[in-house]
Amino acid sequence: MAVTLSDIKGDVGSIAGHVKPHINQIKAAERVLKGATEKKVIHDFFVSRVGDDIHMVMLHENGEDAKEVHETAWNALKAATEEAQSLGLYAAGQDLLKDAFSGNVKGMGPGVAEMEFEPRKAEPIVLFMADKTSPSAFNIPLSKIYADPFTTSGLVIDPRLHDGFMIQVLDQKMGDVLEFSLPEELHDYLAIIGDLVRFSIKKVFSKDKKLGIAASVSTEKLSKIAGKYVGKDDPVAMARAQSGFPAVGELLQPFMTPYLVPGWMRGSHVGPLYPCSVDEANPTYFDGPPRIVALGFMIKGNRLVGEESDPQPGSHKPVDYFRGEEFGYARNIAMNIATYMRQHGPFMFERLPEEEMEYTALNEVLKRIFEKRNIKNKNR
Ligand code: F6R
Ligand code: MG
Ligand code: MG
Repeated sequence: MAVTLSDIKGDVGSIAGHVKPHINQIKAAERVLKGATEKKVIHDFFVSRVGDDIHMVMLHENGEDAKEVHETAWNALKAATEEAQSLGLYAAGQDLLKDAFSGNVKGMGPGVAEMEFEPRKAEPIVLFMADKTSPSAFNIPLSKIYADPFTTSGLVIDPRLHDGFMIQVLDQKMGDVLEFSLPEELHDYLAIIGDLVRFSIKKVFSKDKKLGIAASVSTEKLSKIAGKYVGKDDPVAMARAQSGFPAVGELLQPFMTPYLVPGWMRGSHVGPLYPCSVDEANPTYFDGPPRIVALGFMIKGNRLVGEESDPQPGSHKPVDYFRGEEFGYARNIAMNIATYMRQHGPFMFERLPEEEMEYTALNEVLKRIFEKRNIKNKNR
């Protein structure tokens, strides 16, 4: 029986800045998803969060892009928006760019990562939720995981991984999806994926057809949808682990190096990816640094299984991998990098290059500067 794992996420309001949702918003989303389990639209779920983003992780049998599942998530975000409005929270409903649901949340504001597969006898999953960054934040870590034998020793040692992986890359500028077979096309791949403004990883597949999909990333860009700066494109990635896929430890290793990613403060700055637990995922220093949380759980038939085995749908507590002190090492390095980067203030490359600033408020400022001086520039 094939199942689909969907994470649909959005920022629909938070407390005192873009920091964290109110517990009533989380409960409102949970109530809607619970209702969907009773109507058998989804089998199981849990709601989590990173920074100001609410994540709805749902297990079902309706496939990717299923109207009823997307509508459930949309309704949950609307319910969380109503809570935000009644509590007077900041940026209530921010990521809901349309008034009414129309078939699929893609293009409507929320971010979506989904994968459909036949679960193995034991199916470990790792979910990566990020805040204050962009979909391309996953370009380096996922390249390390699926294409670098110095990270994933299974690429060398384990015959089930030895042939490598197939990676799909989205060209954010043109909308094309490019496929790369690794390691054979590694150098072509790196020539493309190194551009964190234009390209982002969409999906990864095992070359073993029986195993199928390995990972999926949300690639929605809010600003591209709205045509102006309306909020952040904070992404999510999900990956299957072990027995032919990278081990959990191989999936987590790249996050010990706080790589620089785009999208910090006002979606306009570059900062290091700071690995932390859900409880610590409150961006404080210059609205950051960009946060990454990793959650582990199992899929058993049509159930999710976390570290506490309460059989109620929605009640699962996944393993919070970055809670441990090991990743305290990465947090210290990240804070050194973050304070160093902040010394540059509004200068590149702490501030993002122009292409990525196209839809930010800076564009408006630049327009005024040129207009005041009667300089006509068609590009602005
Ligand atoms: C939002 C975010 C923040 C905001 C910043 C300005 O998730 O990334 O860095 O961009 O706090 O927010 P506004 O424009 O709402 O005052
Ligand atoms: Mg936000
Ligand atoms: Mg956010």
